[in-house]
Amino acid sequence: MKLAMIGSGYVGLCTGIGFAAKGHDVTCVDTDAPKVSMINRGEVPFYEKGLQENLRKFLRKKTFRAKVGMRDVPAVDAVFVCVGTPADKKGRIDLSYVAAAAQETGNYLASIPSYCVVVVKSTVVPGTTESVVVPALEKHSGKKIGQFGVCSSPEFLKEGKALDDFMHPNYVVIGESDKKSGNVLKKLYAGFRAPVIRTNIRTAEMIKYAANAFLATKISFINEIGNMCRQRGIDAYTVADAIGNDKRIGRLFLDAGCGFGGSCFTKDLSALISSADAYDPRLLEEVLQLNIRQRKRIVDMLKGKMQLKNKRIAVLGLSFKPDTDDIRDAAAVDVIQYLRDEGAQVVAYDPKAMENTRKVHPDITYADSAREALAGADACLILTEWDEFKKLGEKDFASMKNRIIVEGRRVLSGVAGSEGICW
Ligand code: UDX
Repeated sequence: MKLAMIGSGYVGLCTGIGFAAKGHDVTCVDTDAPKVSMINRGEVPFYEKGLQENLRKFLRKKTFRAKVGMRDVPAVDAVFVCVGTPADKKGRIDLSYVAAAAQETGNYLASIPSYCVVVVKSTVVPGTTESVVVPALEKHSGKKIGQFGVCSSPEFLKEGKALDDFMHPNYVVIGESDKKSGNVLKKLYAGFRAPVIRTNIRTAEMIKYAANAFLATKISFINEIGNMCRQRGIDAYTVADAIGNDKRIGRLFLDAGCGFGGSCFTKDLSALISSADAYDPRLLEEVLQLNIRQRKRIVDMLKGKMQLKNKRIAVLGLSFKPDTDDIRDAAAVDVIQYLRDEGAQVVAYDPKAMENTRKVHPDITYADSAREALAGADACLILTEWDEFKKLGEKDFASMKNRIIVEGRRVLSGVAGSEGICW
């Protein structure tokens, strides 16, 4: 099939390259001309395992390209709306990019004679496609829904594993305005071995939020248990390993630590909570609050052991999880701020995320290696479970001034003086 992705960010590019790998012809569209040129040169504007090689492969095969705007995109079978849905200052969803993409798609629909399905992949609160996207499509195309199709098909891609998640989804959701539009997506996903859930559009939109809210809740749950474990000298990981054997619970997403970060969980929970109108979703509010407290908790643990003023604190790990340079909502960004508020001197190291962190915290020191960060440090915090930190041993910590190590992620094994936030 011929496909277009509006928005060449993380979701648009991963989905587009994924569909190209499945044999489709894909055009990724963006408003940012330098980004479009970069993609056409075979460079991915962010780090994601395997993406660059595949981008280059399909550029060479001429089954993939990027363009500024939809104007000269030949008729496609489906347009995927993959633009960002950031949070505004109050945590509510900002739909300005979605509205702009709907307008552009409407104009495009006006220019093509063939049937085309508009698929909303952007994460939007239930009801948005019907109340914002469809009216804009009708207005700018001069056509009525039915003359074009509309679907909601949320993505569940994890950073660092996006292509693999794309190729092997746990399930595929098709929220459809009518059978005809859903059938186009059904055909597109026919080659995937995954259960397909066909439903209405607002249910599909809710499924995405329910999935992210559940995963975030699972993490805050184990962090609460972990905090109580630590008080009692119990290892939260042994508890998680045990209860994870119960199929109703499952072991995944029960790694206790300094909490969740990334581009989705906090943003999506906040958007869902603030869209709840007359209902007060207290469980989800507490999931977010506990996550914020977890970041403070790790600094409080240090404060319980030492004065932080003018002390050299090594922070190992800046990205919100390993194998990415993404620092959006990363624990490290807040933790560094708390340390600075206490007058500490932060020396940070991360294998991939230092360039991005420098934009937020330009005034701290960045080291070229974990060893360099640790030399002369009064204490060390570990905030991302990069593989290279798992290899750190006694020798690497020998140059610390004081052996105070607090792990926000379970990384080290048998290093004297290390303790965990939840174990
Ligand atoms: C998440 C969802 O998993 C994905 O389906 C959705 O489409 C986008 O949001 P991602 O943000 O890439 O994906 O990261 P994920 O692997 O889910 O981890 C999120 C955060 O939770 C990370 O900060 C991670 O360190 C933390 N986490 C994860 C824990 O603290 N404990 C765990 O057991 C698992």
